[in-house]
Amino acid sequence: MRADTNRRAGRAARAPAAATIRRATLADVAALVEIENASFPGNRLDRRRFRYLLAHAHGVILVDAVNGATELRGYVLLLFRSNSPVARVYSIATAARYVKQGVAAQLLRAAERLALDHGYTRQHLEIRADNAASLALFESRGYRRFGRHAAYYHDGMDAVRLEKALER
Ligand SMILES: CC(C)(COP(=O)(O)OP(=O)(O)OC[C@H]1O[C@@H](n2cnc3c(N)ncnc32)[C@H](O)[C@@H]1OP(=O)(O)O)[C@@H](O)C(=O)NCCC(=O)NCCS
Repeated sequence: MRADTNRRAGRAARAPAAATIRRATLADVAALVEIENASFPGNRLDRRRFRYLLAHAHGVILVDAVNGATELRGYVLLLFRSNSPVARVYSIATAARYVKQGVAAQLLRAAERLALDHGYTRQHLEIRADNAASLALFESRGYRRFGRHAAYYHDGMDAVRLEKALER
């Protein structure tokens, strides 16, 4: 999974709005980049990379959209590999003003359903060993540690490897 996190806790100042989880389109790229830049200090997906991922079937981006489906609360990027039963969660992030409101949990559930719909039976990811919020998110949703990559990230931080068997 992604490298660093740049998250600062925050709560939405506005009233809750009805959210829709849908596939991202090219029209979402600017908002995706905004979330990305606010969430990660380095190793970010840029506009070009998001456009590439949206144009190629090996990557699926789901977004949680509000306010007439124009504002994004968060996104999850799933990568699929042919000839493998394993889908990979490459990245998940929630806009700062919407954290701790269940956005990532809902995106993760939707990603798992999507992976199952595509015939994948397991989901894998790597998380920085010091990313407590992300580890809590995945471990509380049934992901189990099965390994570690030493010095996986550019600053020497280890990656924790997590997996989950997907079920309906
Ligand atoms: C990690 C992140 C995606 C969580 O998003 P979120 O929308 O705030 O998460 P949710 O509100 O859906 O919370 C789901 C679970 O995550 C865990 N969690 C979320 N924020 C947490 C925090 N600050 N501390 C500890 N656990 C946290 C909890 O287990 C929570 O479950 P609970 O509400 O039942 O207790 C968000 O903090 C983020 O975008 N961080 C920066 C990007 C990042 O590090 N992404 C992961 C690596 S790619």
